[in-house]
Amino acid sequence: MAEFDKIYQKYLSDFNEYLDKFCDELNCRPDILKQSLVYSLKLGGKRIRPVLMLSIADIIGTGAEKVKIFALALELIHTYSLIHDDLPDMDNDDFRRGRPSNHKVFGAGNAILAGDGLLNTAYSILFDECFKGNEYISAAKFICDCAGIRGMIAGQSADLLHEHDKDVDEDVLEFIYENKTAKLITAATVVPSILNGGKFYPELKALGKKLGYLFQLTDDILDVEGNFEKLGKSLGKDEEEDKLTGVKVYGLENCKLRVDIMGDDCIKIIDGIDGDASFLYDFVNFVKTRLG
Ligand code: IPE
Ligand code: IPE
Ligand code: MG
Ligand code: MG
Ligand code: MG
Repeated sequence: MAEFDKIYQKYLSDFNEYLDKFCDELNCRPDILKQSLVYSLKLGGKRIRPVLMLSIADIIGTGAEKVKIFALALELIHTYSLIHDDLPDMDNDDFRRGRPSNHKVFGAGNAILAGDGLLNTAYSILFDECFKGNEYISAAKFICDCAGIRGMIAGQSADLLHEHDKDVDEDVLEFIYENKTAKLITAATVVPSILNGGKFYPELKALGKKLGYLFQLTDDILDVEGNFEKLGKSLGKDEEEDKLTGVKVYGLENCKLRVDIMGDDCIKIIDGIDGDASFLYDFVNFVKTRLG
């Protein structure tokens, strides 16, 4: 595991350096716009999507360098989704990444604009990549679809719609997990394949879906029994907002059993990926046992 931490930190620091440069070079007026964008981007976060994308690119021979800009676009989209997710009319969360949420610092109006700004900037970055060739167009389109109305937005919409459900429905939970969380994680796993002639495409798509499910399952568990210091966000919010979560559908203990099952499913998928995939096996364990 020490080896895993070392590799994770390497991808993380490379990516953060790249992101810092992007933030430093951001040029926009008025100043509050830049401040609000950069505030949420630089708060940190685990950066699991960029780390996954860069590491998979190395494992399957695409090369981390080729996907770096896609990882940046994806992290901008993810950060925008968090800013909007925390808004009073969504999850009404006051903390994110260990600090006050964007709207607590800049107000809801500026937080909406910061989210919009991150999404638009991500699309602009992706458009620029499209000039490089067809596979870049396909990769950009894949990310857009994962983020959009048949992706993350659909999941967030269902998440809101099914607050206060009396009858819990496993299929609805699966729809929410698959879209609000697994789609952006699938973008991270699949882009390296698209940029490399579709190498291990079915495996990486299946991995994104399972890993995304596993990630949201652990997120729902941590909302109940996590630690604020490690998690960086308020606890007990799902119960407070009466969300349709894994805990509500299966109960806490059954959720933990499902974590093991989903983890094993991920491992079986990784078994089908040639090359040195040891980082991915450890990544699954990291998601299973994470505290933050
Ligand atoms: C939080 O994502 C939202 C979910 C999909 C559960 P992360 O847990 O990846 O958030 P950061 O980027 O590390 O803050
Ligand atoms: C949000 O899920 C997933 C997103 C698309 C942002 P949650 O609402 O459970 O994420 P947290 O717990 O606020 O990070
Ligand atoms: Mg939410
Ligand atoms: Mg939330
Ligand atoms: Mg949550």
